[in-house]
Amino acid sequence: MGGKTKSRLAGVIGWPIAHSLSPHLHRFWLKRAGLEGDYVPLAVRPSALAEALAALPALGFRGVNVTVPHKEAAARLVDRLEPDAARLGAVNLIRVDSRGRLVGSNTDGRGFLASLERAVPDWKERAAAGALLLGAGGAARAVLGALLGAGVRRIHIANRTAQRAQRLAALFEDERIVAAGWSDRSALLKEVGLLVNTTTLGMEGQPPLELELSLLGKGSVVVDLVYRPLCTGLLREAGRRGHAAVDGLGMLVHQAVPAFEAFYGQAPVVDAATFAHLTEALEKP
Ligand SMILES: NC(=O)c1ccc[n+]([C@@H]2O[C@H](COP(=O)([O-])OP(=O)(O)OC[C@H]3O[C@@H](n4cnc5c(N)ncnc54)[C@H](OP(=O)(O)O)[C@@H]3O)[C@@H](O)[C@H]2O)c1
Repeated sequence: MGGKTKSRLAGVIGWPIAHSLSPHLHRFWLKRAGLEGDYVPLAVRPSALAEALAALPALGFRGVNVTVPHKEAAARLVDRLEPDAARLGAVNLIRVDSRGRLVGSNTDGRGFLASLERAVPDWKERAAAGALLLGAGGAARAVLGALLGAGVRRIHIANRTAQRAQRLAALFEDERIVAAGWSDRSALLKEVGLLVNTTTLGMEGQPPLELELSLLGKGSVVVDLVYRPLCTGLLREAGRRGHAAVDGLGMLVHQAVPAFEAFYGQAPVVDAATFAHLTEALEKP
């Protein structure tokens, strides 16, 4: 069984997967720590996910990360869910335990918070009035759980598809969440000190995010989860207006820390060289 093998093999399952930065990140950390092992991209169609996951122990995998579009389906397929993944109904990390069973967890929310805390240590004071979350997809779910756990007083969710924002709010059943209309997003900026874009707007090949950022109060924090490009139109404007601007690479790196530990048995060092390596990989065509 996989738990008994000496190989340190892990990977990331998604569809498509060619553009994932995770292999670059884990291989960089492996090499730097002088550890034997590998981390491979696994392109798995949705129809083959169950079969692929079931084969992981026999193939000697210590575990895998799970990415779009499989996070929710994987939560239904693993043998056991850690509380964070059970609460979100989504898995981004599966480890193979010593008996060859698949244990699912979700480190996206932790990654988001670690990134925010490193970039803006006083973000909680700045966000005292509340936060505005744009989007209600998979990433929004993890960010919302993290912000609630961190004690943010009020969280407005604005999503193009209003029903999806309402469903997300209902998932958490927390009176601090307010589902708002997509057209209210600019007006809501006056009421918050933290803005988080979890939509795909502003991403390469996607339309820009239209927002009246002049309405956001001084000293606010703006986070964009999009990391292709690293400096989105939203972040550029936030920086120009003097807000603290946080890009999506930090979340990507910090969500991978518990994964690397689970796969290879030691914590990686998150430092400037890690970010420089990924930035270089992002800049390659
Ligand atoms: N930095 C990181 O570590 C990290 C981690 C996860 C995700 N992300 C990034 O976060 C983004 C979202 O990922 P996801 O997995 O949450 O995707 P998802 O589940 O597909 O959700 C996409 C979201 O974008 C909204 N959207 C898409 N096109 C739109 C448009 N034209 N106008 C307004 N809203 C639009 C969707 O609204 P509807 O509900 O109306 O369709 C939905 O809220 C991606 O850019 C992804 O790369 C980054």
